[in-house]
Amino acid sequence: MTPIKRRRSILSVPGHRETMHQKAAPCDADVIMLDLEDSCPVDEKTRARATIRASIRTLDWGDKTLTLRINPVDTPYALRDLLEIIPAAGSRLDTVVVPKVESAADLHFVDRVLTSLETEAGIERPIGIEAIIESAKALRDADAIAAASSRLRCLVFGIADYSASIHMPLTSVSGHGENDGVYPGDPLHFVYGRLIMCGKAAGLQVIDAPHGNFRDPEATRIAAHRSRALGFDGKWAIHPAQIDILNQIFSPDEEEIARARQVIETYEQAKAEKKGAAAIGGSMIDQASLRMARDVMARAGIQ
Ligand code: COA
Ligand code: MG
Repeated sequence: MTPIKRRRSILSVPGHRETMHQKAAPCDADVIMLDLEDSCPVDEKTRARATIRASIRTLDWGDKTLTLRINPVDTPYALRDLLEIIPAAGSRLDTVVVPKVESAADLHFVDRVLTSLETEAGIERPIGIEAIIESAKALRDADAIAAASSRLRCLVFGIADYSASIHMPLTSVSGHGENDGVYPGDPLHFVYGRLIMCGKAAGLQVIDAPHGNFRDPEATRIAAHRSRALGFDGKWAIHPAQIDILNQIFSPDEEEIARARQVIETYEQAKAEKKGAAAIGGSMIDQASLRMARDVMARAGIQ
């Protein structure tokens, strides 16, 4: 079984804050995202590119997945972000995160530029792409976006920009707990469902937006539980304090692993007896249960 590249926790780190890069390098996040977009002020973008180049080359990132969020492709910054960082980062950079993707064409542009820069710099392992879905148009076209490039690794939900794009009133960047009871149901339920369906149908991982209230660990935990329950593979973090919570919630616990082992053993036994289904403690299991159990084992990193 191919091990899953885990993206349980993705720490966003402002591109111009060098001391935060130093703090991020040894942390326990699965993914570090160095950000040139919304956490980096316009007049800091040039300096941030140089800071990111130096950090990627000099800091020890261990075996973390390292990603770079560029600016949106319709701004004057995106092309320069790629030109100035990709050749210098070489094969240490795993993916480029493209925000405010509006169509498949936005990703075709990034794909072509990456191909050209990789060829020129002799980078052999293709750099991946992660697409942030954060507008009504992007959500509508999420299936075409998810199929736009063989470099795509995941879709990410950008809750704050999405909410702004449809005039949904939110005051925080994550909205959890806001407007509770105003609408009978979760106002974002369809959004989550469509995003997850389009991403998974294309074989991608799907990542949820961060929980904005980073001083409230219990709220982060509840938000992460909700994300996992829907099928998200992980969640962004904006602060190091959120990382352990996300790693824990997006990993199968001992009980789930024990149950998965039991399902696999019971199913194998039933198969040997030429039965398609069996029972564990009054619950039926069949081949679908086996697939769920194998998914748990893969997520736990158990072969
Ligand atoms: N990455 C790395 N280090 C971080 C960090 C991050 N995202 N957020 C905080 N830290 C560091 C701080 O620098 C500080 O380090 P120190 O102890 O060496 O001084 C330590 O963690 C504790 O930080 P704290 O004082 O609790 O928070 P803060 O007030 O300094 O920062 C934020 C709060 C929200 C400004 C900061 O967490 C941040 O910039 N987060 C990222 C925002 C972002 O990327 N937004 C775009 C994506 S949605
Ligand atoms: Mg955004």
